[in-house]
Amino acid sequence: MPEVVLSDLYKKFGKLVAVDHINLTVKDGQFLTLLGPSGCGKTTTLRLIAGFIKPDGGEIRVGDRRVSSIQANVNVPPEKRKMAMVFQSYALWPHMTVLDNVMFGLRTRKIPANKAKQRAMESLALVQLADLADRFPHQLSGGQQQRVSFARAIATEPEVLLLDEPLSNLDAKLREAMRFELRQLHNELAITTIYVTHDQTEAIMLSDEICLIHKGKILQACPPKEIYDNPSCCTVADFIGITNLMPAVIKYDAERVKAAVIQSGDMIYSHIPNNYPDQAEVTLSIRPEYIKIYQDLPSEKKNVLKGKIKERTYTGNNIDYRIAVQEEIIRVQVFDTDIFHQIEAQVYLWINPDKVTVLSE
Ligand SMILES: Nc1ncnc2c1ncn2[C@@H]1O[C@H](COP(=O)(O)OP(=O)(O)O)[C@@H](O)[C@H]1O
Ligand SMILES: [Mg+2]
Repeated sequence: MPEVVLSDLYKKFGKLVAVDHINLTVKDGQFLTLLGPSGCGKTTTLRLIAGFIKPDGGEIRVGDRRVSSIQANVNVPPEKRKMAMVFQSYALWPHMTVLDNVMFGLRTRKIPANKAKQRAMESLALVQLADLADRFPHQLSGGQQQRVSFARAIATEPEVLLLDEPLSNLDAKLREAMRFELRQLHNELAITTIYVTHDQTEAIMLSDEICLIHKGKILQACPPKEIYDNPSCCTVADFIGITNLMPAVIKYDAERVKAAVIQSGDMIYSHIPNNYPDQAEVTLSIRPEYIKIYQDLPSEKKNVLKGKIKERTYTGNNIDYRIAVQEEIIRVQVFDTDIFHQIEAQVYLWINPDKVTVLSE
């Protein structure tokens, strides 16, 4: 399968810039997710790639084929791009059976009926729906309908699969199950896939690479673990998972070791990149699961803060605390749910120095 390369892709609607000079490579067989809040330009990017709308600038390449280029005045129509798209709304024909829905795209491509039927049945088998081929969409559950639309997309043997929030209409439990199904399907077929979602958990579970979009621009593109552990800026840190964003100033301690001084005056030690000089104003991003709570003063010499429990929420798999360290509220998640700290209790916090990200905002 070919790679997809977006170069300087640009699209505006009137004065609104929806896609702001995006540069991105989706590698051969990769599952890449465009992740970002509603209105950040994900769907527009996908529709540009599919060819449903025309860009105002830049280029789209699929392998060695240029499918869209403003400069070279190239605009390959959607049906010739060897792509298939799956929508949040399933978009099935209500008056056609499951089989006819899947065959439809093949017949419009002038594939003979018997060959089209065979291919459609193979695709339905891949999504475990072969026995429901004669049903109509209204006789299927939401999850089954979405599997039909996956089958319909796969049946055309696309080189690139585009999915726009395909699981958003399903209830939470089914959505979770379908994530695994989708990932498995991708593992089997290895089609270069571009997936759009606003759901960071979904992006983390499914993707080889996450591309975080904010106001039409890419903020960071890298594998899930990297974006979670090393967010490039506060917006990314805040959007992916939960984090404590703490303003701090870089200072040297008595032994000339650099540390970040937070609002309480405490020094937080971590790996501080060389580009942060003495007195630099920074923000620390510290995930709530990387902070430990102790009732008594722990043996750690560094990164120990004194706090007072202010709020406590039991969530089933963790206890989510809000702890005041002087004026600042720090969120801490504890996964051992057998120990509860009481509200107003004095505690000590220890911050793992390896898990502190220093950000420049
Ligand atoms: N056809 C259109 N005409 C005018 N504005 C549009 C159109 N399509 C999208 N937009 C605007 O472009 C921005 C990006 O939209 P979209 O790509 O749909 O975001 P997302 O899919 O990330 O929620 C939004 O502000 C949206 O209102
Ligand atoms: Mg959208």
